[in-house]
Amino acid sequence: MTVPEGTGGPAEATGAVAQLTPVQGAVRSADGLPAPHGGRLLPCGLDDAGELARTAELRQVPVAGRVLDDLDLLASGAMSPLRGFMDEAAYRASVERMRLPDGLLWPLPVTLPVSDQEAAACRPGTDVALVGADGSLAILTVDDRFRRDLAWEARMVYGTEDTRHPGVAALLAEPAICLGGPVRIVRRRADRDPRALDPAETRAAFAARGWRTVAAFQSRNPAHRAHEYLQKCALEICDGLLLHPLVGRTKHDDIAADVRLRSYEALIAGYYPPERVLLAAFPAPMRYAGPREAVFHAICRKNYGCSHLIVGRDHAGVGDFYGPFDAQRLVADLAPELGIAPLAFEHAFYCRRCGGMATRKTCPHGPEDQVVLSGTAVRALLRRGELPPPEYTRPEVARILAESVDPA
Ligand code: ADX
Repeated sequence: MTVPEGTGGPAEATGAVAQLTPVQGAVRSADGLPAPHGGRLLPCGLDDAGELARTAELRQVPVAGRVLDDLDLLASGAMSPLRGFMDEAAYRASVERMRLPDGLLWPLPVTLPVSDQEAAACRPGTDVALVGADGSLAILTVDDRFRRDLAWEARMVYGTEDTRHPGVAALLAEPAICLGGPVRIVRRRADRDPRALDPAETRAAFAARGWRTVAAFQSRNPAHRAHEYLQKCALEICDGLLLHPLVGRTKHDDIAADVRLRSYEALIAGYYPPERVLLAAFPAPMRYAGPREAVFHAICRKNYGCSHLIVGRDHAGVGDFYGPFDAQRLVADLAPELGIAPLAFEHAFYCRRCGGMATRKTCPHGPEDQVVLSGTAVRALLRRGELPPPEYTRPEVARILAESVDPA
């Protein structure tokens, strides 16, 4: 585990926590937690009856999928300082330089693609209503209409144009033309996961518990023992842990978000001191952009008030499109600017001879002693009606997984 050196930890911290300081020079806000990206939390508007009446007169633009997820992150301020969907200048800067036009780090484009016909009807300078099938509603002030080079975006952001990469396949299926401009949320999505908390809410929860150093754990998978190992190492050195499984759009063969959330609930109930852990759903979509997405995860979790982000093996990766530690390297390189510190971990596994979880930093034994199962292998076991072993996942979690799988 690598903790960047720094100064400026909380005065009242004791023991190891006093050594575990966030990134050098990281700015803290009035709640004692890391300041949001760009300085302030900027949720995009609130429910408002007046605005609701006005939206009926506006052109109705249907939105779905990844865009709806991004809209909810804009609504809550999780993507502060973004105030809406990117115009061409912000789009090009984020794709080319991983920055916003003012130089602030921003590694992923956040775009609103529409059909050519829709784009033609949405003139810059006008307001349009963004309407989700779930009843969510926002007003977009159209500042810009621009056409993307999707293949270029795929190469720059994902490092490949290969459509076996699910993020690339999703991108290339989107229309190239986009609308850009600020949004004001009139009505939040009705199908929001009730376990999601906004950044203002997680910050208030951390402050109420007296936490100054909080490690965030991002995941798109059910909780397994390697996850638990990383989380508990972080708990040894931070004041608290935000378990923050992602619940936005994922690829079709990832396990359903509700199952993942329930696996975390079972883990906390059986194996964690509950007062040291906060579980909240993270309503972002998964792009599988590996290193760039790890930087995005760091920025969002800073906005939620976290001082540290756990970054393990192949964070936000898929297949073998990224090296196992590429994401760690990029986040570590950018950490001084990011203002949230990575807690970087080697590949973790259960070692039969050690009789516990380990990494090659702590275990001298060979692969023959390691219990390592791929997601595909676990799904195959479950379809045969078998439970994955307790060295791989806790029995309570294994049972939740078994209930969720259709037999072959
Ligand atoms: S993802 O969001 O990064 O795609 P995943 O659930 O696979 O989700 O992993 C969550 C976090 O745990 C990531 O930081 C990942 O790098 C880390 N991780 C998962 N499995 C291991 C492992 N066996 N060893 C070390 N880190 C791991």
